[in-house]
Amino acid sequence: MIHSPNWKQSNMLQQVSGQEASSLPYGSDSLREDLQIFLGSEIRLTELDDLTKVNPVTPATVLRCLQERYQVDIFYTNAGCTLVAVNPFKPVPYLYCPKLMRDYHLAPQLQKLKPHIFCVGEQTYRNVKSLLEPVNQSIIVSGESGAGKTWTSRCLMKFYATVANSSASQESHETVERIEKRVLDSNPVMEAFGNACTLRNSNSSRFGKYIQLQLNRAQQMTGASVQTYLLEKTRVAYQAPLERNFHIFYQITKGASSSERLEWHLPQGATFHWLPNSERTLEEDCFEVTRDAMLHLGIDHSTQNNIFKILSGLLHLGNIHFDDSEDESQVL
Ligand SMILES: Nc1ncnc2c1ncn2[C@@H]1O[C@H](COP(=O)(O)OP(=O)(O)OP(=O)(O)O)[C@@H](O)[C@H]1O
Ligand SMILES: [Mg+2]
Repeated sequence: MIHSPNWKQSNMLQQVSGQEASSLPYGSDSLREDLQIFLGSEIRLTELDDLTKVNPVTPATVLRCLQERYQVDIFYTNAGCTLVAVNPFKPVPYLYCPKLMRDYHLAPQLQKLKPHIFCVGEQTYRNVKSLLEPVNQSIIVSGESGAGKTWTSRCLMKFYATVANSSASQESHETVERIEKRVLDSNPVMEAFGNACTLRNSNSSRFGKYIQLQLNRAQQMTGASVQTYLLEKTRVAYQAPLERNFHIFYQITKGASSSERLEWHLPQGATFHWLPNSERTLEEDCFEVTRDAMLHLGIDHSTQNNIFKILSGLLHLGNIHFDDSEDESQVL
């Protein structure tokens, strides 16, 4: 089982925003003595895979090291047992391909491979596997908004879905594949209902989540559960300037068929106060992806229809205008 509670057994993953790392103030004026000593040494910063090797360890030297690595497209660096991930803010397909997943999964000595999120994933998987009495493992993904936490969690889930399936026998292969599909499909649904475009991140999670992946004794995935907390419900009725409501509202208004529009009372081109900035189309506006994922999770068409009707009702509620109480007292 891979899940939380024990800090001693948890792998920490620290996310850093790449945009900010590339604009660190380290011009000649701000070069401090420790940084100058560090830069004067023989070490090639891009080869420092572990920040504990940085000497002296100061915020300036650590950030300089991360920045040097970032500039040559190295996005992961260890910091002892913590992995620091810098957001590339660009597609890097080779970094997450199935071949790389296999390489990490099959590596005889993981510590000889480069720091990577798959390394954290695999180490945790091996920790469960190697123990006679399996002990729960946890990975904590933390960082500021836009740092890449959701992306990383998705990557880890894909990794576990792949490696936990590779050890499955022929008979259990189908069950594992079904569970794996459901685990991965929980992401688009959670993101449609719980993510929104903010000033910092066009797909910002407006809730926290605790994902539990359950493995059996043969290390095959047998189930998963997701608990959410602190959903920013107020966003439904109030969106800060230049921000948006939850993606799902835009998905239904943009993606409903003409018959659904009639049934849900969503005429084409209708304006809703609670849907600001809807002229901007995002990748996250794809209704079909959410619907398919809901179906795979067992939410049938009729339940989906009811959910979307309620959402449409909420949008209409937002258009209700209340007159001042003074007006009410006026004699007609
Ligand atoms: N490893 C990565 N490779 C490529 N792009 C990435 C990666 N990680 C993050 N991104 C990009 O950065 C964006 C923001 O990442 P993400 O949504 O995961 O941030 P977050 O930490 O979950 O933020 P929030 O706290 O607002 O939810 C993603 O939509 C994606 O475009
Ligand atoms: Mg997020």
